[in-house]
Amino acid sequence: MEIKEASFLSATTNVDEIPIPELEEFAFIGRSNVGKSSLINMLCNRRKLAHTSSTPGKTQCINRFLVDQGWIITDLPGYGFAKVSKTKRAALEAMINGYIRRAPGMTLLFVLLDARHPLQQIDLDFLIRLGNWQVPFAIVLTKSDKLSKTALERQSASLRESVSQYWDPLPPFFVVSSLTGEGRKELLDYIGSIRSKKF
Ligand code: GTP
Ligand code: MG
Repeated sequence: MEIKEASFLSATTNVDEIPIPELEEFAFIGRSNVGKSSLINMLCNRRKLAHTSSTPGKTQCINRFLVDQGWIITDLPGYGFAKVSKTKRAALEAMINGYIRRAPGMTLLFVLLDARHPLQQIDLDFLIRLGNWQVPFAIVLTKSDKLSKTALERQSASLRESVSQYWDPLPPFFVVSSLTGEGRKELLDYIGSIRSKKF
């Protein structure tokens, strides 16, 4: 599958403001700075559709993009961002969780994990919550360009192993780099395969 056109649809912090979309929606979530907004730009072939930053905590709203007039990509704020007040963090988490649970709008959530690190407790807690809420998800390892081929294979195997201790069968796994475009085709084809099953 290829994306021909993507445009900004809405940005909000109030989940209730967002109508349950009639269109299918694929959302991107993960720890702050893991590369969600960069991945969305890479998938859409646009440099500045979603705002990115080297400073964690850039995305603070639920940002939605309309793709090819037919489906929606959602850029969510990162979880676990340490440099905000407890109150602000709790509000952000409530917003993210409220949004994610607002099925049936959500078709699939891509949970991004930095390929360089072992599975963190905060990611595991998040995945377990998704399991409890029965939110369908796939896992995406980001920033693959930062590792050598051997290190990437080792990390990927180790992360699969960690996740498989909690999920059987293993959720779909992807490895991407927004810098080199690795994994773009696989991810888009996967989205395409889910969409073609439904329509
Ligand atoms: P928040 O919105 O703050 O939660 O962050 P985010 O997950 O949207 O991350 P963002 O896309 O803003 O990227 C964070 C930083 O990582 C930026 O400096 C990006 O340039 C860098 N980055 C993202 N993806 C990649 C990648 O695939 N490779 C490399 N080398 N850097 C990346
Ligand atoms: Mg972001």
